[in-house]
Amino acid sequence: MQKQFDVAVIGAGAAGMMCAAVAGQRGKKVVLIDHATRLAEKIRISGGGRCNFTNINAGPQNFLSQNPHFCKSALSRYTPQDFLSLMKRYRIAYHEKHKGQLFCDDSSEQVIAMLKAECDLGNVSWRMPCSVAGIGKDGDLFRIDSSAGEILASSVVIATGGLSIPKIGATDFAYRIARQFGLRVVEPQPGLVPLTFDAAAWQPFLPLAGIALPVEVETGDKKSRGEFKEDLLFTHRGLSGPAILQISSFWKSGAPLQLNLLPEIDVTQALLEGKTSIKKNLGNIFAQWLPARLAHGIIEAGKLDPGARLADTPDRLLKELGNAVNRWAIRPSGSEGYRKAEVTLGGIDTRELSQQSMMSSQVAGLYFVGEAVDVTGWLGGYNFQWAWASATAAGLAI
Ligand code: FDA
Repeated sequence: MQKQFDVAVIGAGAAGMMCAAVAGQRGKKVVLIDHATRLAEKIRISGGGRCNFTNINAGPQNFLSQNPHFCKSALSRYTPQDFLSLMKRYRIAYHEKHKGQLFCDDSSEQVIAMLKAECDLGNVSWRMPCSVAGIGKDGDLFRIDSSAGEILASSVVIATGGLSIPKIGATDFAYRIARQFGLRVVEPQPGLVPLTFDAAAWQPFLPLAGIALPVEVETGDKKSRGEFKEDLLFTHRGLSGPAILQISSFWKSGAPLQLNLLPEIDVTQALLEGKTSIKKNLGNIFAQWLPARLAHGIIEAGKLDPGARLADTPDRLLKELGNAVNRWAIRPSGSEGYRKAEVTLGGIDTRELSQQSMMSSQVAGLYFVGEAVDVTGWLGGYNFQWAWASATAAGLAI
């Protein structure tokens, strides 16, 4: 079995396959190594099995990083249109679902097959399943100690992703290798993750589990502020749904979230103005705006009776009700963690990497791509776009 390569890519997920294909098609001798038994499991399960493979509006504004400028170069050189051209070449049908999010019509397996075919065009060699015990550098060559024997390579690309969903093979490999070579790592944290509350504090909300509604949610300060208008979902342990997944990446432990459960209506104003003309009781008024269970929960949390008539309710209490709906401040106690997180925030500190090539500025020939790097996209196809773009930047530079 061949032992020496120009490029060894470790991690055959979205970024790893893309990088191997690009480098291979430029004539580099590439080996792609992954410890998993099934190829690209995260692509397979993504987007509910239909892979939200990019976002047509993806730009640097949709990414979080200690250096928000770092992603600009790679994203501008490999755009959503570039990935769409590839999809069209393979005749993979797709559709836009919501806010520029593009999904396969059929299955995420098509994206995996396409990337595999692109690797084949680049004559990429595979070592899979194959675990890597360590990487050393001997002069200009990297020595990879793997379960398939020693592999030598002039360049190594680390594409092993982040810590999310350990049960399908996520590891801290990228961070370990970075630290071994003296590169800084921004502390990883779960991102795009449901938020949880203390069991006792959440008790009154348990009957609301399963309710979903469109909301506005915000958190943060002037330095880092997140604000989204998306759907919220009540769960048995806390809050989820796209609104919460999005805001979770901005949420700092201990900080409150502010939710507007009825963004289209100023509830205080509507209640005060309606006092003379609306004959209904509070329960009926709220039920025309919000799911009935939630409406009753809010009224009862305000120590009011859903059967109370609007006209008989003091203005002060109506204002409190209005605030409870339009400005609900809640403090999550934590998150569901890496078990449920779609991504990992943080990662290889971008100060260690070239934004053109993704190569370490300290260790010639060592590259990091994809989710391993401290660049994290919002929910909605942005993370795959970063995987494609950062991998292409490295694949073209090696
Ligand atoms: P990725 O995780 O894809 O690949 C890493 C590879 O490295 C894996 O094959 C793994 O087996 C391998 N590996 C890890 N440790 C190793 C080791 N020690 N040795 C050897 N191999 C190792 N994004 C998006 O844009 N649209 C979407 O629809 C979704 N949906 C989605 C759903 C769910 C449930 C999750 C968990 C995530 C998403 N994402 C997403 C996020 C997206 O999947 C993620 O950002 C990309 O897959 C990251 O690509 P990478 O190639 O960097 O890592």
